[in-house]
Amino acid sequence: MSSRRKRVLCVVGTRPEAVKLAPVILTLRQRRWCDLTVVATAQHREMLDQPLGLFGIEPDCDLDLMRENQGLVDFTARALSALDRAFAEASPDFVLAQGDTTTVLAAAMTAFYRRIVFCHVEAGLRTNNLQQPFPEEFNRTVTSMVTRLHFAPTERSKANLLREAVPADRILVTGNTVIDALHWMAARRPVLPIPIDPDKRLILATVHRRENFGAPLARVTAAIRDLVERNPLVQVLLPVHPNPNVTERVFHDLGGLDRVRLVPPLDYQSFIAALMRSHFVLTDSGGVQEEAPALGKPVLVMRAVTERPEAIEAGVARLVGTDTETILAESQRLLDDPGWYRHMARGASPYGDGHAAERIADAIAAL
Ligand code: UD1
Ligand code: UDP
Repeated sequence: MSSRRKRVLCVVGTRPEAVKLAPVILTLRQRRWCDLTVVATAQHREMLDQPLGLFGIEPDCDLDLMRENQGLVDFTARALSALDRAFAEASPDFVLAQGDTTTVLAAAMTAFYRRIVFCHVEAGLRTNNLQQPFPEEFNRTVTSMVTRLHFAPTERSKANLLREAVPADRILVTGNTVIDALHWMAARRPVLPIPIDPDKRLILATVHRRENFGAPLARVTAAIRDLVERNPLVQVLLPVHPNPNVTERVFHDLGGLDRVRLVPPLDYQSFIAALMRSHFVLTDSGGVQEEAPALGKPVLVMRAVTERPEAIEAGVARLVGTDTETILAESQRLLDDPGWYRHMARGASPYGDGHAAERIADAIAAL
């Protein structure tokens, strides 16, 4: 048997992939059997560079693919071609990617065409509705079809894969690496660089899902506006996602409002500090649904469905959709009913124990 080191190629494209793959990259870097290459599609530019820099990761190859307001087909096509060249050059034994973005779909497809073993971090999340989230449900379902080793964050995500006839010996429940990253960050005691009125309750809000663009997003901004108008002791911090479909709506509807602070995307460190400082969270993000419960912060999920039902079942998150009145009513309850607030703020970490990256590295070593 050859004693050559295993060539592992990690692909990252967007902010959440950088946060969630960083613990795996840092762990693999320490393993002597591993010859690691990091390829950035740069589907996101500054939002990718920020977390990678924070974790001290410099990609070996940066494809620099982001364009202003890029389309799904356009980005997918360019990512496939560019990743194909990168894989040809690095000639890896394994390709590893995390999540359900276009970068992940393109990495999985390219590995499949090149007959390279593909390993998927955060495998098996499903809503079973191809339209929600769009296009992520499609991306992760196709990705699973070509994955050799599925790193499922929870037993539920493993069960989803088993239902799709994935053999049990190809699935490992590892926990979600987002909790590894969170432990890493929390240990550094992050500080929020934005002054917050200590006499007011801070609500942290994020919005960026494609299926929420247009009317649903307008209903969300209406809820935020009404919430601050009805509650003089509430302030909202909303780091605005740079997707033009989000920026235009949010600044148009909420710009200049008293007690609604619109800021550029926070660096990961500041965002975790904001989460820790918040009273509760309004979001349609995937990762934030996992982080907030681990920090004991109630989450109202502004989506019709979620692939992360564990926190909802644990009673620390609520699926509130994008109806203005529902968002308002659920938020008001958290503000007015201390017993209910305590119930939702008791914290839970159904997504992991902070050791997912080690399990992933061990499993790749054993492949
Ligand atoms: C992408 C992912 C989504 C993920 C989200 C995390 C797809 C189809 N979508 O959505 O699954 O939840 O990232 O945030 O894979 N932009 C910048 N600077 C940046 C990043 C984005 O200016 O650093 C702007 C650009 O105009 C870019 C646009 O945002 O074209 C959209 O970026 P894109 O990655 O295509 O979609 P997201 O909405 O960010
Ligand atoms: N995040 C951040 N700054 C922000 C908002 C979010 O660093 O202003 C982090 C957050 O802590 C989480 C990740 O970005 O780890 C979630 O990314 P996003 O919501 O963009 O994507 P999703 O998880 O929905 O795919």
